[in-house]
Amino acid sequence: MNDMLPLIVPDEDESPAVRRRQARGVSTSNVVVSAHLADNAEVFPQVLALHVEKGATVADLTYGKGVFWKRIPTEDYVLLASDLKVGQCWTELPYENQSVDAVVFDPPYMEGLYRTTKAALAGSGTHAAFQEAYSNSSLQKGKKVRKYHDAVLEAYLSVIPEVKRILRPGGRFIVKCQDEVSANRQKLTHVELIWAYEKQGFYCKDLFVVVRRNAPVISRLLKQEHARKNHSYFLVFQRQDHRPRLDYSNFSGWLRDDIGGGDGTS
Ligand SMILES: C[S@@+](CC[C@H](N)C(=O)[O-])C[C@H]1O[C@@H](n2cnc3c(N)ncnc32)[C@H](O)[C@@H]1O
Repeated sequence: MNDMLPLIVPDEDESPAVRRRQARGVSTSNVVVSAHLADNAEVFPQVLALHVEKGATVADLTYGKGVFWKRIPTEDYVLLASDLKVGQCWTELPYENQSVDAVVFDPPYMEGLYRTTKAALAGSGTHAAFQEAYSNSSLQKGKKVRKYHDAVLEAYLSVIPEVKRILRPGGRFIVKCQDEVSANRQKLTHVELIWAYEKQGFYCKDLFVVVRRNAPVISRLLKQEHARKNHSYFLVFQRQDHRPRLDYSNFSGWLRDDIGGGDGTS
C-alpha cells in the first residue's frame, strides 16, 4: 500500500483543506448517525461509508456467514474474508505486513461461547443455531483460557499482534462488541475495549449503536436486576501506534494519569 496515497479520508483536524470545505459546507440532515434501530447488515455499510474509502483492502477476520457484507457491492472493496470455520485463526493470518487498509473483527462476544465443554456452552439447547453461527468450540479443546467475561476480553486482545502487523499505519480497525452481565455483574465491554485498545495504540474514532428491533426474551426470570441488553456496538479505531505519542485519546490526560497507566497526552 502506498503511504503517499492514503485510502482513508484524513481527520478534519488533520487537514486544513477539509476544514475549509467544512466551513463553507451546506446545511443537511443527510448525515451518517450514531444510533440505529436496525440490524448489522444495515449499519455496517454506513460504518464503511464514513470510515473506509471505496477501493480499500479490508480484511474481515471473522467473516462467519458474511452478514456484514450482504448489502455491500462486491466491487466497492477488496475483501479478504477469513474465519476459523474455514481454518483461519485470527492469531495467524496469511497477509503481508501493513498490507490492508482496514480490519473487521466480530468475535463471539458472550462469555458462554468461550466455555470449554460443549454442554456448558450457552449456545446449547434452545440456542443451538446461535452457537453454530457464533462460536467455535473446537478452538477451546485442551486450551487453557481465562474464564467467563475475561475469556471474552482475552479473545478481543489476542488479535492485536496480527492487527498491528497487517494493518497499515493510520488504518481502521472496526470492532463489533456487546456489553454483558456476567456473574450478576455489569461488564461494559465496549468501555473496557476502548481503554485496552488505546493502550495498544488505537484511538476510538467513532462508535455506532445497533438496537435490536425485536424484544429479547428472558427465560426463567425471577427478579430483573439489570436492563436487558438489546443493543451492540461497532467501534471504529484508528491505528496510531506508529507515532511516538498518540495523536488522539478518548480520555482526558489528567484522568488517565490519575487512574494510572496514561502518559499524560490528550
Ligand atoms: C459473531 S460471529 C461473526 C459473524 C460475522 N460478522 C457475520 O457477518 O456473519 C463470530 C465468528 O468468529 C469466528 N471465530 C471464533 N473464533 C475464531 C478464531 N480464533 N479465529 C477466527 N475466527 C474465529 C466464528 O467461527 C464465527 O464465525
